[in-house]
Amino acid sequence: MALTIQNLTDYFGAEITSLNLIANVDDTVVSEIKAALDKYSVLVFRNQRFDDETQTAFSARFGTLETTVYKPEGDGGVPVANITNIDYRTNEIFPKGHTRLKSNSGNEMWHTDSSFKPTPAYCSMLSGREVPPIGADTQFASCRTAYDLLPAAERLQLDGLVAEHNYGHSRALVKGYKAPKQALKEVPPVRHAVVRTNPSTGRKNFYSGSHASHIIGWPEEKGRQLLRDLVDKSTQTEFVYVHKWRQFDFIIWDNRCILHRGTPFDTTKHRRVMRRTTVAGTGPTVRETGDSLAAAS
Ligand code: OGA
Ligand code: MN
Repeated sequence: MALTIQNLTDYFGAEITSLNLIANVDDTVVSEIKAALDKYSVLVFRNQRFDDETQTAFSARFGTLETTVYKPEGDGGVPVANITNIDYRTNEIFPKGHTRLKSNSGNEMWHTDSSFKPTPAYCSMLSGREVPPIGADTQFASCRTAYDLLPAAERLQLDGLVAEHNYGHSRALVKGYKAPKQALKEVPPVRHAVVRTNPSTGRKNFYSGSHASHIIGWPEEKGRQLLRDLVDKSTQTEFVYVHKWRQFDFIIWDNRCILHRGTPFDTTKHRRVMRRTTVAGTGPTVRETGDSLAAAS
C-alpha cells in the first residue's frame, strides 16, 4: 500500500491523507511511515482521534518510548508528556505566572526533543487534543536543508565536532524560571555529534538547538556562537514550516534532523492540551574511544 502524500514545503514535510492510524496499522504501514519520516522528516495527519492508550500503543510500534523528566506537578517519569496550560489534577487553567507556564515557554526556543539525553530521541508524536482558536502554532525547520547549502569547505570544518547538550543550560535561558534540582540531577550533561547522518538515506544534517551548550575542546563562547549560528542557518524563514493546529491533528517529526518550537497564545483565555509520546533513538551519537570522539550517526 502506498501512502498518499502532499508536500508541505519545497524542502521537507508531508501531509499524509490516506491513513487512519488507530484503526488499521499493520507492520507494512509502520515501515512505510518510517520510510516517509526518513525522507520528509515531518509527517502531518489530520483527524486522528487518539486517546493516551491508543497513542501509546501506536507510538510503541516505532521503538522504545521515553519517559518525561521530573515535574513538580507530579507528571514526570511517564511516557505521555503533557504539553498544556491545564493542570491535569483540577482540569483548570494554570494561573498567570505559574511555574509550569514558564517551563512550557522553554519550548518556544528552537530545540530538538531530548537532545539532553545520552541516547536522544528518534521521533516525537504530538496529538492536538484541545487547541486554541488563535496562536500556539508549532514551527518546524529541517537541519538538512541548510547543511546541504553550506559550501563544502565549511562542511568539512564541522566534521568530527562534538557538542555538550545540557538541560540545565537551556532551562537557564528561560526567563524567570528555575528548573527543579531533581530534574537537573536526572539529566546531567551529555555529548552529541554536531553533524549527524541518517543511517537509511545517508543524508547529513546539523544537530544543535537550545540544549546544545558548547563544543568540546573549544573556548565556551566560540562553541556557543557556532551552535547558535547553525540554528540560525537552519531556521531561516524560507526553510520553516508553520503548523496551524486543528483538533486531532497528529504530527510525527524526526528529532535527529528537525528543530521545532512552540509559539505563544493567550494562556489565560484558551485551553491547550497536547499529548506527546517520544520514541527513543537507538544509541549514542558519538563513539568515545580513549581520548577520541567520533560521530556514530
Ligand atoms: C513538544 C514541543 C511545541 C508546541 O511537544 O515537544 O516542543 O507547539 N511542542 O507545543
Ligand atoms: Mn519539543
